[in-house]
Amino acid sequence: MPEIAAPKGTRDILPDEFAVRRWLLDAHRVTAESFGYRAIETPIIEATELFIRGVGTDTDIVEKQMFTFEDRGGRSLTLRPEGTAGSLRAVLGVHLDQEVRPVRAHYAGPFFRAERPQAGRQHQFTQVGIECIGERSPALDAEIVEVAWRFFGALGLTGIQLQVNSLGAPEDRTRYRAALVDYYTPLEATLCDDCRRRLHTNPLRLLDCKRDAGLVEGAPVLWDSLDRAGRDHFTAVMRDLEAAGIDSIRNDRLVRGLDYYGDTVFEFWHDALQGAQSSLGGGGRYDGLARLLGFPATPATGYALGVERILMVARALGTVPGIEPAAEVLVCSVEPDQAEAAAGAARLLRDTAARTVLDVADRRLDRKLRGAGRLGARVAVIIGENEVAAESAVVRDLDDRSQQTVPMGDLAAAVARIIGGRR
Ligand code: HAM
Repeated sequence: MPEIAAPKGTRDILPDEFAVRRWLLDAHRVTAESFGYRAIETPIIEATELFIRGVGTDTDIVEKQMFTFEDRGGRSLTLRPEGTAGSLRAVLGVHLDQEVRPVRAHYAGPFFRAERPQAGRQHQFTQVGIECIGERSPALDAEIVEVAWRFFGALGLTGIQLQVNSLGAPEDRTRYRAALVDYYTPLEATLCDDCRRRLHTNPLRLLDCKRDAGLVEGAPVLWDSLDRAGRDHFTAVMRDLEAAGIDSIRNDRLVRGLDYYGDTVFEFWHDALQGAQSSLGGGGRYDGLARLLGFPATPATGYALGVERILMVARALGTVPGIEPAAEVLVCSVEPDQAEAAAGAARLLRDTAARTVLDVADRRLDRKLRGAGRLGARVAVIIGENEVAAESAVVRDLDDRSQQTVPMGDLAAAVARIIGGRR
């Protein structure tokens, strides 16, 4: 039979890697919760319309990266490419924002984009993110950046560059788009195919072009199109970031690839990631999204970070912690006759929270003990004929190879003395 591989752009997460991801996910949860964010989970499939209206028709995501299919009733569904539209739908759909404002939510889970797979770019990837919904304040834009910053700190990551910009209000962007079109139109014949299209569909995205980077240098600057309120908002965000001790780099060209942003936008970059994948994550304010989805206008801000990319950086910097072995204790019988007594001993040890593997297979004791080493166990508990008769067990320290026979009633304490000293 031919082997069935995992689909292109997806990966299996096996135990060693799972343990490392859990370290990251726990750090994000603990950090977000220390700021009062609470966990939410939204469906992995959503109505396609949610992303068309939310993310925007002229974005790369909606134009060419969505996994879209029809359900049996002919409704168009999409594997979620991002979590902001779904989170906002979930929160505003039940008026959660009328109980507490702002609603602070965090999430983690799989997302899907049909991009050409390469290192740090997969069809299925994992994001951790937070959304702060219901209030318009520069302090909240700074707060969410601070959550991410502390999270990176908890992982021991250094060298992260925070890139920030302001996209201003919708009228500011209209003015800016016009300025960009004025600048680029005489150059249209020299533009790459993508940019020629963007000039007519989504001029802001012209600034993302790597091929026409030389032209981007000379393009008008968004800041010049911002009115007073937009500038004041951004200045306040920058002041709060500074007060929080967070260094930021102002990047006039940062526009982000999703249409729902206004005012503050930001990304976290790291040199350990290369080229187009330099971004560990990003976010910003999206006060206009609620209306696009058919809800009353509701200000909000948030971010999402790519778990696989963060792990690439953590590995490059060597901050990934050692992995806990599968078991601390291996309990084994000398012969199958002692299986029942060995199982009883294992139960007793699990009651004390020692991670315990039971081996009552019909094979030689020395092979069982070699297996203990592979599991990473520190202690072997051996039960043979004599031990069953005396209601005792042999406790062997696998590091120094010392061993003692203890009554069953003292087993837990004897094991705890060995593993407790090394935990
Ligand atoms: P985004 O910038 O599209 O923002 O994605 C955030 C992060 O997800 C990226 O920086 C990257 O680390 C990771 N990512 C995206 N696509 C892939 C991929 N194909 N393979 C691996 N990692 C990937 C958002 O998704 C917004 N929802 C962020 C946000 C939340 N804005 C406000 N609230």
